Amino acid sequence: MIEVRNLVKRFGGFTAVDGCSLTVETGSLTGLIGPNGAGKTTLFNTIAGTYRPDGGQVLLDGADVGGMPPHVLFRRGLVRTFQIPHEFSRMTVTENLCVPVPGQSGENLFAAWFGWGRIAREEAAIRKRALEVLEFLNLSHVADHQAGRLSGGQKKLVEIGRAIMSGAKTILLDEPAAGVNRALLGTLTEDIRRLHRQGYTFLLIEHDMDMIAALCDPIYVMAEGKVLAQGTMAEIRADARVREAYLGHGMSADGATGGAARAGRA
Ligand SMILES: Nc1ncnc2c1ncn2[C@@H]1O[C@H](COP(=O)(O)OP(=O)(O)OP(=O)(O)O)[C@@H](O)[C@H]1O
Ligand SMILES: [Mg+2]
Repeated sequence: MIEVRNLVKRFGGFTAVDGCSLTVETGSLTGLIGPNGAGKTTLFNTIAGTYRPDGGQVLLDGADVGGMPPHVLFRRGLVRTFQIPHEFSRMTVTENLCVPVPGQSGENLFAAWFGWGRIAREEAAIRKRALEVLEFLNLSHVADHQAGRLSGGQKKLVEIGRAIMSGAKTILLDEPAAGVNRALLGTLTEDIRRLHRQGYTFLLIEHDMDMIAALCDPIYVMAEGKVLAQGTMAEIRADARVREAYLGHGMSADGATGGAARAGRA
């Protein structure tokens, strides 16, 4: 479980995250929405260890992890994906999935000298796991393609694949639907749902209200660095403050059919 208490993150004199509190229950699929510039990605980065908090706490299963770097959090089971995919563009899709696995002895010089048999076995196991993950994500047909040549949607799936490969069970997804075509969007939504059923916990930032409505409960709404509201999709939609926050940014919280709610997409 992630508990964020009164979290603050400043950039110079500007407070991007201004005393946010939220809880991501283990096994939940929690949503995080809000107009562009609300501070969602900054909140993610502060939870995932990219930024040090300027105030408040991040508790992971009760332990204060505020300020711990991403690779430490990732050993504690927390991993995030990026709003803009960070694939290794010249490597194949399978290679991309094989890169970030923690505890790979190939990284260790002594193991490399003395344990080559074990490394070969581990690499084979990792590759096998990568192929399973690609199959799960319906990406087997592009397993040997250069990752940089994939479509935007496929790159998002690769990001999720890498998160799965990390072994972390809590995944922060930053706009997985951004830049994904309608056809792939259904697949992506279903993949997240299936992973959730398998026991993964998600915190999902998204401007696509269809995806949020289909997947998330509860949903937190952020505006101007603060949590404005929380609840089910129905509760959020009925909330006048949420409506106002979106309208102030020329967006509609009704977004299910309105393209404006997706204005934040790349
Ligand atoms: N590294 C940074 N340095 C200075 N200001 C930043 C930095 N990162 C973000 N900001 C500012 O902090 C505010 C919140 O940005 P953030 O990216 O967290 O918003 P967001 O809710 O993720 O928006 P979007 O929906 O457009 O992705 C914005 O005003 C942004 O310009
Ligand atoms: Mg963002």
